[in-house]
Amino acid sequence: MRIAMIGTGYVGLVSGVCFSDFGHDVVCVDTSPEKVDMLNRGEVPIFEPGLDIMMEKNVAAGRLRFTTEIEPALDGVDAVFIAVGTPTRRGDGHADLTYVMAAAEDVARNLKGYAVIVVKSTVPVGTNKKVRERVALTNPEAEFDVASNPEFLREGAALDDFMRPDRVVVGVETDRAAEVMAEIYRPLFLRDFPIVTTDLESAEMIKYAANAFLATKITFINEIARLCERVGADVKEVAKGIGLDGRIGNKFLHAGPGYGGSCFPKDTMALARTGQEYAAPVQIIETVIKVNDEIKRRMIDKILEACDWSVAGKKIAVLGVTFKPNTDDMRDAPSLTIVPALVGAGAKVVVVDPKGRREGEALLPGVTWDADPYAAAEEADALVILTEWNEFRALDLKRFAETMATPRLVDLRNIYSEEDAQRAGFDTYVAVGRGQGPGQTRGHD
Ligand code: UDX
Repeated sequence: MRIAMIGTGYVGLVSGVCFSDFGHDVVCVDTSPEKVDMLNRGEVPIFEPGLDIMMEKNVAAGRLRFTTEIEPALDGVDAVFIAVGTPTRRGDGHADLTYVMAAAEDVARNLKGYAVIVVKSTVPVGTNKKVRERVALTNPEAEFDVASNPEFLREGAALDDFMRPDRVVVGVETDRAAEVMAEIYRPLFLRDFPIVTTDLESAEMIKYAANAFLATKITFINEIARLCERVGADVKEVAKGIGLDGRIGNKFLHAGPGYGGSCFPKDTMALARTGQEYAAPVQIIETVIKVNDEIKRRMIDKILEACDWSVAGKKIAVLGVTFKPNTDDMRDAPSLTIVPALVGAGAKVVVVDPKGRREGEALLPGVTWDADPYAAAEEADALVILTEWNEFRALDLKRFAETMATPRLVDLRNIYSEEDAQRAGFDTYVAVGRGQGPGQTRGHD
């Protein structure tokens, strides 16, 4: 199949590269000449494990190209994917569709034969129909169908999610469009990955409902974690105990500093907004948004409490600032709430992150960066683990305890245990939702 991918951001680039790996002929179009030049030099603008190698392989095989010119890119295509950004609109929390609609108009003006216009960007329910109307209005001659094909890619595991998906969701209005989409995803179909073919609105809603449900699941366990702290239970045990129930499942039950990233915060907000607009408020999600904000702020208190409620002049080493491991993405990362609060309270913060520095430098003013966790924590008053990068999972805790001014460990991802910390010589170990450690918040206040 011949495919054009509009937008080489995270979703567009991963999808374009993976489609070319299926054997399709893919042209990726982006309006930024700098980005296209970079891609044509073989450089990947984002960090995603395995993407550079897969991109190089398919470019070399002649199946993958990058260009700023949409017109030749649409020549003879079977499908045009729109994978441009849908940021949260300032002021009202709605998804901003400016880029999607601009792309739709561009496609309309340059389409020659029949093609399916596939919306891959996460868009509110009803957008695919608006895209159809806009294309028809811009070019009444255009021969096309629209399709909704939401992505479910986790950053850091995006290639695997694309190649081995739990499901592919396709929303269509015609058999013709369904056939094109089935042909595009045939390599997955042959390997028995389920494809859910449905109407446009349901496909759009599946995406929001899935992300909102996952955000709710995380927020649920984070609230249970807080209660565990008060009653002396261990949230890891609780998560294991409930996760074994097949109806609940053990995934997305890791308590932590609150969800972040490019999807959950934006998509929960957009769903809440849609609910209000249609007079069917999604109250659970409205609450999840509020609670997640509180959870992030509560982490600040945890750190302050571990430091005897004063961090002024104290050195704090923070391990991990990206919103999760294996990405350089800082969007809505809990670190953006927590670290500035520490800096504001007068702490001398030293940050270590394997990939976060490039984006993080501008976003976290007033901190010092170090590449080595041990050097960062020398003479420190607290060590805070904020993102569970693999390199932070097997630290030599003893070495830290020996060189820190005050050995305190605030483990916001529950990687270690109180016993690990005590054995290594830490005076204080604070985790999330795990009972009775010294410094741990109790219910008697
Ligand atoms: C998410 C969805 O998983 C994906 O399907 C989608 O379409 C895009 O959004 P992503 O944002 O890359 O992917 O990250 P994900 O792995 O889902 O994690 C999101 C946030 O939740 C992170 O901040 C992570 O640290 C947090 N999280 C996740 C937890 O706190 N606990 C968990 O158990 C799981």
